[in-house]
Amino acid sequence: MYILAIESSCDETAAAVLSAKNNKKPTILSNVISSQIDIHSQYGGVIPEIAAREHVLNIIPVVSEALIKAKVKPSQLSAIAVTKGPGLITSLISGMETARTLAYAWNKPLIGLNHIEGHVYAAFLDLKKNLEFPAIVLTVSGGHTIIATMKKHGEIKIIGETRDDAAGEAFDKGAKMLKLGYPGGPAVAKLAASYRDKFTEKPKETLGFPRPMMHSGDYDFSFSGLKTSLLYKLKADLKWEEKIDQYCYEYQEAILDLLVEKTVKAAKEYKVASIIASGGVSANLRLREKLNDRAIITNPHIKVYFPNMAYTTDNAAMIAAAAFFRLDRGVRIKPWQKEKVELNLYL
Ligand code: KG4
Ligand code: ZN
Repeated sequence: MYILAIESSCDETAAAVLSAKNNKKPTILSNVISSQIDIHSQYGGVIPEIAAREHVLNIIPVVSEALIKAKVKPSQLSAIAVTKGPGLITSLISGMETARTLAYAWNKPLIGLNHIEGHVYAAFLDLKKNLEFPAIVLTVSGGHTIIATMKKHGEIKIIGETRDDAAGEAFDKGAKMLKLGYPGGPAVAKLAASYRDKFTEKPKETLGFPRPMMHSGDYDFSFSGLKTSLLYKLKADLKWEEKIDQYCYEYQEAILDLLVEKTVKAAKEYKVASIIASGGVSANLRLREKLNDRAIITNPHIKVYFPNMAYTTDNAAMIAAAAFFRLDRGVRIKPWQKEKVELNLYL
């Protein structure tokens, strides 16, 4: 089976081809991403109209490249998968209409997938052993911060989410205040790591960042207060630039403590066998370290899964993976005529 997947929900135009011999063990044959980061970074964030225009320019070359790299002809495809939401509507439309047109031209079934489901399934690619259910899912990206339960394949239920900014947004907006450019996550993470490396023991935090809603008793998040506290601290500290690595470290610790605390609490309450962390922020090595450490203290048998680095930020391989597991559990695929553009904001 071969699946062509298309993802265009934000500022990456992406296409991938997945192969599964005898319909088992999915392998990614190609994973092409045309990033618009350089274009948007001059504005400090994604400009939806520019993203939409770039998708229109890039989508056909990206899809062609994915098929050529995979050495797969359109006639060999079993289905075309596409992200149908959530995301920027003007960006999603490019992928959706391209997928629909190709499905029509090549007479292939079309599978519309949720972007968050895609992020979750990124962690299922390249698994050595089957992941044990039930699981708790933490999906953290520039647009989402979600804790969900996953009882089995396809049964993802949100139990908590951010009430304001997403965790990735907290990184990006913090980085903007620290004049580190866009996207901010990797830049903040790098300076935070260089600060940590100066000490043998975990350094004591002295800047006093709050942990909003840490013990709120639910699985929701709020990052806007933390962001505001960074703003006020920088305003009050004329010499912040000399301590920028410390600011990055302590600000990052505050964001990650919130994510880890709530995820582990959910894992405990739902007595799960696995934790899956996914989305752009799951590329953060300190998050991986903290979540592993804390999860094992709570339950020594629990397994924590992260996607391979290439599948953390937006990509189409994760959409292909979600489509594969959907077909694998016997969900019938609709003919292209029946697949509607439903801009689903939630799972
Ligand atoms: O999943 P993604 O590509 O896009 C959305 O679906 O939103 O995530 C992008 C986000 C950005 O906010 C970026 O700053 C963040 O992921 N990110 C990171 C790291 N790498 C990317 N945040 C923290 N540490 C990182 N290493
Ligand atoms: Zn995403």
